[in-house]
Amino acid sequence: MPQSSEANKLTFEIHRAQSAVVEDLARLHMEVFTPEDNIPALLGPRYVRATYRWFVISKRAYTLIAVARGNVVGLVAVTDTSFTTPLFRASFLELLRSLAKKPLILFQKRLWQRLARGDKSSTRLRKRIVNDRRVAQLAVIIVKKEFRGQGIFPALIDAAKAISKGRGSRAIRAGVYKENRQSRRAFEKVGWIEMPELEANNLVFYVTYLDSEFAEEMRASAGQFS
Ligand SMILES: CC(C)(COP(=O)(O)OP(=O)(O)OC[C@H]1O[C@@H](n2cnc3c(N)ncnc32)[C@H](O)[C@@H]1OP(=O)(O)O)[C@@H](O)C(=O)NCCC(=O)NCCS
Repeated sequence: MPQSSEANKLTFEIHRAQSAVVEDLARLHMEVFTPEDNIPALLGPRYVRATYRWFVISKRAYTLIAVARGNVVGLVAVTDTSFTTPLFRASFLELLRSLAKKPLILFQKRLWQRLARGDKSSTRLRKRIVNDRRVAQLAVIIVKKEFRGQGIFPALIDAAKAISKGRGSRAIRAGVYKENRQSRRAFEKVGWIEMPELEANNLVFYVTYLDSEFAEEMRASAGQFS
């Protein structure tokens, strides 16, 4: 891109991630998430690396990084449509390797809940949004702990919105664990709207519209389908 911003005296830049930083992205992921709260972290660093490789190189996705003092201190990965199935395919070998290495993971109920969730649509509005090829999906967003609250999250979100709009998306949705209060607060602060229609298991979904016509369309659909 690149774009720079200054908030609370911290200077950072937002760039498009290239393959060379995949290792840094995986490391940041493993630093922030624990196997208890995140399925990829449960599957291990090799699996996490495989997922970021796909987020970086796939034509259906892009990843942005925030760089401060020469280090990757934040990231956001966005896919043009739902990512569950293509990501599952792209990282399947690493999934098998992880399971072969740690077979006890197979007894974890949340692994099956995650795999079974896919993007099954329960309501007509949910189906409409989930299957709409113009609705991008924010797969993951992270700010390194010591860099939080300094404007990196809103800068990553603004840059992602501009890029997704340029790629033809009309909205972006993001799934967040219900109990992840900090993340929910961060999305709410930048104006994303919670969509109870998309709620699944322990995930809540937030949406931001990239064009007002589409926002109107979805509002009308919500009324029509409620
Ligand atoms: C989500 C995340 C990227 C936000 O980055 P950030 O730099 O903290 O974002 P912001 O500073 O813009 O906003 C965070 C808000 O949450 C608030 N917050 C912090 N901890 C909180 C908590 N335990 N409960 C509720 N709100 C909390 C902050 O105070 C701030 O709100 P405020 O400005 O009104 O005080 C960062 O917290 C993170 O990396 N979390 C781990 C990864 C993650 O869960 N990602 C999201 C799912 S993919």
